[in-house]
Amino acid sequence: MKFWVLTLFPEMVENGVLTSITGRAVEKGIIEFEAINIRDYTNEKHGKVDDYPYGGGAGMLMQAQPVYDAYMSVVEKIGYKPRTVYLTPAAKVFSQGKAKEFALEENLVLLCGHYEGIDERVLEKIVTDNVSIGDYVLTGGELAAMVVVDAVSRMVPGVLTNAASGKDESFSENLLEYPQYTRPEEWMGEKVPPILLSGHHANVEKWRREQAIKRTMERRPELLKDNEDDR
Ligand code: ADE
Repeated sequence: MKFWVLTLFPEMVENGVLTSITGRAVEKGIIEFEAINIRDYTNEKHGKVDDYPYGGGAGMLMQAQPVYDAYMSVVEKIGYKPRTVYLTPAAKVFSQGKAKEFALEENLVLLCGHYEGIDERVLEKIVTDNVSIGDYVLTGGELAAMVVVDAVSRMVPGVLTNAASGKDESFSENLLEYPQYTRPEEWMGEKVPPILLSGHHANVEKWRREQAIKRTMERRPELLKDNEDDR
């Protein structure tokens, strides 16, 4: 799978994605990643990519032309119009279910806005999915794109070394993850729950499931009645 990030700050996204587990996956060729600088595609001689909004209002908007040409450079390389995600707070919030869905794509384009946003006409032409990473406003889409690349990558077979670790975790069944413990058996007077030392696999599983439900009820009760689509 290849991620293409269209951005005015390619080095920001590169630094994030090429670090740690996603960076190792890129090195191994399990995923591919390319950040495209939208500014490289402007026809404006001074490299300008933004202008004032028609109708007035605060801030600047990214213009349609450089965004479209940056996108078309991807289309020309891969030979078809790929699924293209616009990162924006004005969208449904990203979920584990969406991460799994995006992980099935051969190519995924992530479009990062800056300033006050992007001219609507180019969004209408190229965007297939609008995605927010949460109900707060960031200064640009780059951090959101990095979140999406990370969450989607770990759903791509081979990115996580332990095959089970992509499944048995928070959200895989709309449940938060159960508490976990490692050595020592006692730390600052606190003991590891004895059932985890019992060696009784079925009882351990039952305890973990109970803990996951309890934690979900306490911390995120709304997940227990959430839609299957969000998993
Ligand atoms: N751009 C600015 N804020 C954002 C958010 N919350 N999610 C996705 N993209 C954004």
